[in-house]
Amino acid sequence: PSLKDVFADDFLLGSALLVNEIQDSNGPDAQLLQKHFNSLTAGNELKWDATEPQEGQFDFTRADKIVDFASANGMASRGHTLIWHSQTPNWVFYDAEGKLASKELLFARMKKHIDTVVGRYKGKIYAWDVVNEVLEPGDKQPGGLRNSLWYQIAGEEFIEKAFLYAHEADPNAKLFINDYNTNMPEKRQNLYDLIKRLKAKGIPVDGVGHQTHIGIEYPTVQEIDDQFQAFRDLGIEQQVTELDMSVYTNDSDAYETFPLELQLKQAKRYKEIFEVFKKHADQLTAVIFWGKDDLNTWLRTFPVTRNNWPLLFDERLQAKYAYWAIVDPSKLP
Ligand code: G3I
Repeated sequence: PSLKDVFADDFLLGSALLVNEIQDSNGPDAQLLQKHFNSLTAGNELKWDATEPQEGQFDFTRADKIVDFASANGMASRGHTLIWHSQTPNWVFYDAEGKLASKELLFARMKKHIDTVVGRYKGKIYAWDVVNEVLEPGDKQPGGLRNSLWYQIAGEEFIEKAFLYAHEADPNAKLFINDYNTNMPEKRQNLYDLIKRLKAKGIPVDGVGHQTHIGIEYPTVQEIDDQFQAFRDLGIEQQVTELDMSVYTNDSDAYETFPLELQLKQAKRYKEIFEVFKKHADQLTAVIFWGKDDLNTWLRTFPVTRNNWPLLFDERLQAKYAYWAIVDPSKLP
């Protein structure tokens, strides 16, 4: 069965991908995407370093391939991401003399960038991660904000401006704030408070994106439930934007092959978390995997190079137990 059909009454079912996966638009990777997913996210191709590597010089060739592939196949496109501390060229933050840019210069560059990128995909990209990973409680800034160059130059206002510019560029796009570890109480509270402050100022925030890069043990299923529960009363959309499940609990582990016992444990856990997703389906509008198969996954290079099996399809694009656990648990051994 097709994943997107199984969850058609619940939420969009998405995958992130790299442009090389659809180089051949009829190849096996493309076919798997077409069969199972109704939403695509460019894994890297819409980030600032990809779209505007030099000031004023925009390059949409790779992003266009993904967005065009999605629309040709009747799939939704999600935009990732406008403002992030990573994968952003250095010129953004410095002036002609090499000094940290003024707030005015930074905002002018943001506006130009957001206008151009969001404007280009107006009506095609239905939702944007306007800001990504702006919280880092360990940085000890007020509100738990990350001490990024964005923050150092403009304080919290950079977040407000990003949403305002994005809304001007496409008033119909759904605008998200996206972050990881939203299951962790302190960070989650900071995120909740930030959204409340933004809403109180009339900033157009439509949704919260939970990346949901999880492990085989942690967070617990209850903690994943809590991550949605905590935002319910804000009355905004929620999405799972980058789901995957590392099979490891610590950085020094590495398996040659995927032990059967772990395959079944992963399957059971995927089943349980999808039950949680379904429970929140009135607010949870999309569940997006960060990739589709165990070969094309960032977890094979991060935090170290090793085998990992975080997704529903294996290296040869065959459905895993994790897939069957979600679509038809009676098929499990
Ligand atoms: O394209 C080059 C290739 O030419 C070169 O040979 C190779 C050697 O390192 O690097 C390739 O670029 C890599 C790129 O992924 C494409 O695979 C970059 O080095 C690598 O840094 C980049 O990593 C991306 C990462 O974000 C960067 O922070 C991952 O693909 C991407 O999946 C990951 O996505 C992030 C989300 O944006 C935010 N949330 C976390 C998530 C996972 O880290």
